Amino acid sequence: MHVDLKERVALVTGAGQGIGQAIASSFAANGARVIFSDRRLETATAAAARWPGCAAMELDVTQDQQVDDVLHRVKDRFGRLDILVNNAGVNTLEYRVPIDEFPREEWDRLLAVDLTGLYVTSKAAARIMRSQQAGRMINIASVAGLVPLRLQSPFVAAKAGVVNLTRSMALELGPHGILVNAIAPGSTLTEGTKQLFYGEDGKFRDSVQRLLDHIPLGRPGSVEEIAHAALFLAAPESSYINGHVLVVDGGWTAGYTRDF
Ligand SMILES: NC(=O)c1ccc[n+]([C@@H]2O[C@H](COP(=O)([O-])OP(=O)(O)OC[C@H]3O[C@@H](n4cnc5c(N)ncnc54)[C@H](O)[C@@H]3O)[C@@H](O)[C@H]2O)c1
Repeated sequence: MHVDLKERVALVTGAGQGIGQAIASSFAANGARVIFSDRRLETATAAAARWPGCAAMELDVTQDQQVDDVLHRVKDRFGRLDILVNNAGVNTLEYRVPIDEFPREEWDRLLAVDLTGLYVTSKAAARIMRSQQAGRMINIASVAGLVPLRLQSPFVAAKAGVVNLTRSMALELGPHGILVNAIAPGSTLTEGTKQLFYGEDGKFRDSVQRLLDHIPLGRPGSVEEIAHAALFLAAPESSYINGHVLVVDGGWTAGYTRDF
């Protein structure tokens, strides 16, 4: 997919690996000057190294001061910020437990990155975009923010928050020429999820196969398929889309798959 992002300046959070890296790379491949940011600078640096004119910056979205500093550095170095992709996110594998057993510390850890981090970063970016009277924000939510899953209470709560915060920011910032949209990925294969999905025999684990049975396309998505959705929302052509949540899930949330 090709769109013209020439001379656009884009900041992607959590761009060191996975979906964030794919989005940042696809923007760079389409001409944007991309700041690959991540709380792990070494992964961001390695990802950005492939793209001349791009940069890597250390950015932990839970650190308010660091977020402000990075946004100032972006403005100083690139002169503007056209696109922000709020991608950084965490989930828990250790605690897949019901709400009455869910540890407070783990709840706080997830909310701090997945929801509050998005607020802090959007706030700092909005100040720059408002002064330009132009900009795009793309928030990476999840289907879990639309249709809750069991045993992941902070993740589903945070992602539902991202969905409605996206709409609320679209209402507030639209009059300033800033479009705010979200992408809700379904199960997406990344280096991290590959280990969860595949058994040692190279086939999908039984539990994963049961999950895939509920996806009409019968497979997980790829990071490139999520990146294509982000490219579309960043493209000049999508100039009348604001406050939208673009579901990219192979039809998983289209309806209940059971036959009667
Ligand atoms: N992979 C999926 O199946 C899936 C499905 C739905 C939604 N998502 C969402 O997509 C986004 C990316 O997921 P992924 O699967 O690529 O994850 P990932 O774990 O592969 O990558 C996440 C990246 O975010 C970075 N990060 C973590 N905490 C951070 C922080 N505090 N500040 C800055 N960077 C931080 C990590 O270092 C890492 O590089 C997340 O918001 C996730 O919730 C993923």
